[in-house]
Amino acid sequence: MARKISFLNYKGGVGKTSLIVNLASCLALEGKRVLLFDFDTQSNASIWLLRLDRWNQINSSGEGAVYSIFNPGNATIADCLVRDVIESKDGEKLIPGLDLVPTTFNLVDLESDLESGNPEQPPYSIFHEQLEELEDQYDFILFDCPPNILRASQCGVYSSNEIYVPSNPDALSLVGFTLLVEKLQKFHRASASFRKSGMGVPAEIRGIIFNSIKGNVDIEVPKIRMQLRMNQFRSQRKVSPQAKIFNTQIRDANIVRRAVTLGLPVVLVGDQRREADSVVTDYQNLARELIEHEPN
Ligand SMILES: Nc1ncnc2c1ncn2[C@@H]1O[C@H](COP(=O)(O)OP(=O)(O)OP(=O)(O)O)[C@@H](O)[C@H]1O
Ligand SMILES: [Mg+2]
Repeated sequence: MARKISFLNYKGGVGKTSLIVNLASCLALEGKRVLLFDFDTQSNASIWLLRLDRWNQINSSGEGAVYSIFNPGNATIADCLVRDVIESKDGEKLIPGLDLVPTTFNLVDLESDLESGNPEQPPYSIFHEQLEELEDQYDFILFDCPPNILRASQCGVYSSNEIYVPSNPDALSLVGFTLLVEKLQKFHRASASFRKSGMGVPAEIRGIIFNSIKGNVDIEVPKIRMQLRMNQFRSQRKVSPQAKIFNTQIRDANIVRRAVTLGLPVVLVGDQRREADSVVTDYQNLARELIEHEPN
């Protein structure tokens, strides 16, 4: 069965999208079958992986993106799947096994336009039913979420069993983590009556991943604060008993910002500079640590 994982923090800009795109690429290069859902209307992961031209076509057609599956036209997830999404400029498939369900700007309408929809079946439940159809084609299904648990994010959270919290070593990330725990509990209570057998545990927080760590900055104090907060939540059973701060942390590297412009994950940026090599190692180590941190 696929491991279904959301990346979430109520603090924006901590690196959720950068982590998920680079991690998904490393997992696929390790031979895993990976499906990435973009649930953020900003469409950052989609534009990054499809590049602007291909994404523009989908955005202007109004079809082939995740919002379509909530429309009366009833597209399915399979209709929106972009298989082996990463291509060279000549159309060569660069990472076989990494598929994307993209989003476009119309996803924002999901937050407001379903008042007249069926209250018996919220969007996350519609989504989950469809996901079940193709789950066993994958080892990992990853959800890139915006910094909230509104309707779009709820689809990822409801279908996930695991949540990882990208964080920067600062007070605001700690606040974002704390708020996430509170909102997650609330969502689980609200969605409990829709859960069916066979879905596994409701998504639980299993780890914090520190991102954008500058070489000359000591992060021991923010790390200890995060650990203390996590210990507290663990004793209150608000996070998984196995929740941990990941040993792997991702360094701050300009190449990560540049990779977005190039439309490639960092691992494919042919850059011999030291910085690129070392941040690639970080993402590869993170992929291995995630594989090992499988729920038992
Ligand atoms: N390791 C890193 N080194 C350098 N820059 C990074 C790194 N990780 C992320 N960034 C940069 O930080 C910015 C925010 O990253 P990203 O978009 O991944 O965050 P996010 O949490 O997904 O944001 P949002 O909440 O808007 O979805 C981007 O400009 C990205 O290129
Ligand atoms: Mg993002």
